[in-house]
Amino acid sequence: MKAPYYVATGSHNEIVMLYLEDCIEGMGKRLQKGSVDIVVTSPPYNIGVPYNSYQDQVPRKDYLAWIEKVGEKILRVLNDDGSFFLNVGGTPSDPWIPFDIAQRLRRHFALQNVIHWVKSIAIGKGDVGNYPNITGDIAVGHYKPIAGQRFLHDCHEYIFHFTKTGRVPLDRLAVGVPYQDKSNIGRWNRAKQDKRCRGNTWFIPYETIRDRERERPHPSTFPIGLPEMCIKLHGLIRTRVVLDPFMGIGSTALACLRLGVSCIGFEIDQKYLDVASRRIRSYLDSPKPSRLSLPQAEPSPATL
Ligand SMILES: C[S@@+](CC[C@H](N)C(=O)[O-])C[C@H]1O[C@@H](n2cnc3c(N)ncnc32)[C@H](O)[C@@H]1O
Repeated sequence: MKAPYYVATGSHNEIVMLYLEDCIEGMGKRLQKGSVDIVVTSPPYNIGVPYNSYQDQVPRKDYLAWIEKVGEKILRVLNDDGSFFLNVGGTPSDPWIPFDIAQRLRRHFALQNVIHWVKSIAIGKGDVGNYPNITGDIAVGHYKPIAGQRFLHDCHEYIFHFTKTGRVPLDRLAVGVPYQDKSNIGRWNRAKQDKRCRGNTWFIPYETIRDRERERPHPSTFPIGLPEMCIKLHGLIRTRVVLDPFMGIGSTALACLRLGVSCIGFEIDQKYLDVASRRIRSYLDSPKPSRLSLPQAEPSPATL
């Protein structure tokens, strides 16, 4: 059987295994039924992104049939209480892509939450009212500038949260936000700590980098914070294994190492996996601030 292309062990004995392999084949051959707790991923969107080897422009009908096949493989390997977080976006001239994908996956999954990944936002002081922390207009984050008069700048993407039942319990406060008005704490039975549910709009900026070609040599990544928040929302205590079928340069693997959970990834492009393994090594070699003890899930399943 083909060995993983790269294997690393983190400081909590979590294991990262990256396979240089087509994900449909890999999921079918390598992963047992129900062996994965969370899938968090971003597939190619079929919008002509210049990947190193993958051709990101095929007829829409073929693309949707392929995405559905990926979904079917995920359905098999995901456990019954698992979460499948799918990050997708469209383009201003083809905004139906995420909805078409969601409709295909609707045949197999319940859509439990729709999260908006906000990449950039502007908030006028005048619209906010009397918040002591906000002293002026705010305009933060990165966005894709769009020329012309028809379309707005593209400032967000979707994270569809699919589950098998639509009833998977989540650890909402793990990605919660502190109350602005602290008098809310204790006002309701549920508000026992200084945190409320964040809701489904998540502002997640890209990490600031100095040299894109060296540090992020891939045309379409998500920030490490995105898989990190998805994993926390599902619940660290219930997470043994995370899968990313489209691993790219390893953002999901890095999120898993930060959180101390094991991760399996597939990627068809060796160049991207080489970058992923370099990023992982450099993360593991870097000095870390002493971490809080992480909640421990049950031992890893037989797949690892
Ligand atoms: C949107 S990118 C994912 C980027 C990743 N989230 C990151 O932050 O680095 C999609 C990736 O899927 C890879 N890919 C395309 N078809 C694949 C397949 N059948 N199996 C595995 N990987 C594939 C592409 O090479 C590309 O790197």
